Amino acid sequence: MHICVIGSGYVGLVTASVFSDLGNDVICVDSSEKRVETLLSGECPIYEPRLPELLDRNRREGRLQFTTSTPFGVAPSEIVFICVGTPSLTNGQTDLSQVESAARDIANSLNGYKIIVNKSTVPVGTGDFVRRVIEEHRPNGKNFDVVSNPEFLREGQAVRDTLQPDRIVIGASSEKAANRMRELYRPLDCPVLVTDICSAEIIKYASNAFLATKISFINAVANLCEESGADVKAVAKGMGSDIRIGPHFLEAGLGYGGSCFPKDVDSLIHTSVELGIPFNILQQVAEENAVRVPRLAKRIIKRLGDDSGNSLKNKTIAILGLSFKPDTDDMREAKSIELCGLLLKAGAHIRAYDPVATDNARTILGEDGVTYCKSAYDAAEGADAAVFVTEWREFIQLDLHRLREALRQPIMFDGRNIYSPGEVSAAGIEYHCIGRGVFPPGGNP
Ligand code: UGA
Repeated sequence: MHICVIGSGYVGLVTASVFSDLGNDVICVDSSEKRVETLLSGECPIYEPRLPELLDRNRREGRLQFTTSTPFGVAPSEIVFICVGTPSLTNGQTDLSQVESAARDIANSLNGYKIIVNKSTVPVGTGDFVRRVIEEHRPNGKNFDVVSNPEFLREGQAVRDTLQPDRIVIGASSEKAANRMRELYRPLDCPVLVTDICSAEIIKYASNAFLATKISFINAVANLCEESGADVKAVAKGMGSDIRIGPHFLEAGLGYGGSCFPKDVDSLIHTSVELGIPFNILQQVAEENAVRVPRLAKRIIKRLGDDSGNSLKNKTIAILGLSFKPDTDDMREAKSIELCGLLLKAGAHIRAYDPVATDNARTILGEDGVTYCKSAYDAAEGADAAVFVTEWREFIQLDLHRLREALRQPIMFDGRNIYSPGEVSAAGIEYHCIGRGVFPPGGNP
């Protein structure tokens, strides 16, 4: 099939590269000349495992093109995906200006029947909005259908999630459009759910909000565990063994970050208020998430600080992991930003390390009070505590004895429960973790 993808961010690039890899002819349109130049030069502008190979192969084999021209992309294409950004406004509402502008450009480029697909995460009613914008701007008599086909990929596993999704959701108002979309997804072996457009739009938000709820729920359970002496890992395992609950997304930690959950929870809260049926549970989910980092910062300050305003003055803290989660260089809503801010405010010096996100982190955290390091051991050199913020795989196999040697004080705060208390304590390090109490150095492995 001939496909156009408008927007070359995470979703757009992964969608374009996977569809071209499945043998379709894909033209990816982006309004940024710089972005298109980067892509044309063969570079991959984002860090995402497997994506560079896919982009490179399909571009070289002529199935994947990049352009700044919407008419060039839309004219030969039967299906046009809208994959542009949908950021949050300050009141939680989703900013649809990029979607509107893409819809207008598509309308102006229509030269025959097209299926216009919303893949960006957009509030319920956006399908109808896109239809009205296109109707207003299209040339007379040019037909089209609007479809909602939400994306469920996770950063860091985006190619895998797109090639092996749990399900495909197609919200369509015409049989013709639904059938063509089914045909497009035929090579993927997974359940396809066809619904009306509004339901498809809500499926996406309800899924992300439900996952965020699971995370805030287990974090609240972790608080209970900390106060009562229980172990949140054991509790999550016990809960997750119930098939109705499931074991996934029950990792207690510093809360959810990234470009999706915080924004999508806020957007659904906003939509519910607009519709006159406030979604109060979600408000609580967001509030629990907002106190995760301050809670850890308070524990660090209590352990290392004094009673002065600058309670961490002359203290150095190693921050390990800066991106919002492993396998990405994405710093959007990364917990490291808030944590470093609170520790710097308390007077600490930060020694920061991340396997891939250091350059992005530098543009946000700056250089004032922060030293960027080459490895976890380097970051720990002379530090009064090592604080793990992102559970990068390379941290799992760290030599904890070497880490202890590097630290000025052998103290670790594990914001993602990467380690078992026994191994840390056996390496001579005092271990503070989430929902599992505090373990002095010298215990049994
Ligand atoms: C999320 C969803 O998982 C995808 O299905 C969805 O397509 C995507 O949003 C989107 O809307 O585009 P993503 O934001 O890439 O994907 O990352 P996740 O792996 O879901 O993690 C989100 C956050 O939750 C991270 O900060 C992670 O550390 C945190 N998390 C996750 C926990 O704190 N505990 C857990 O058990 C799981």
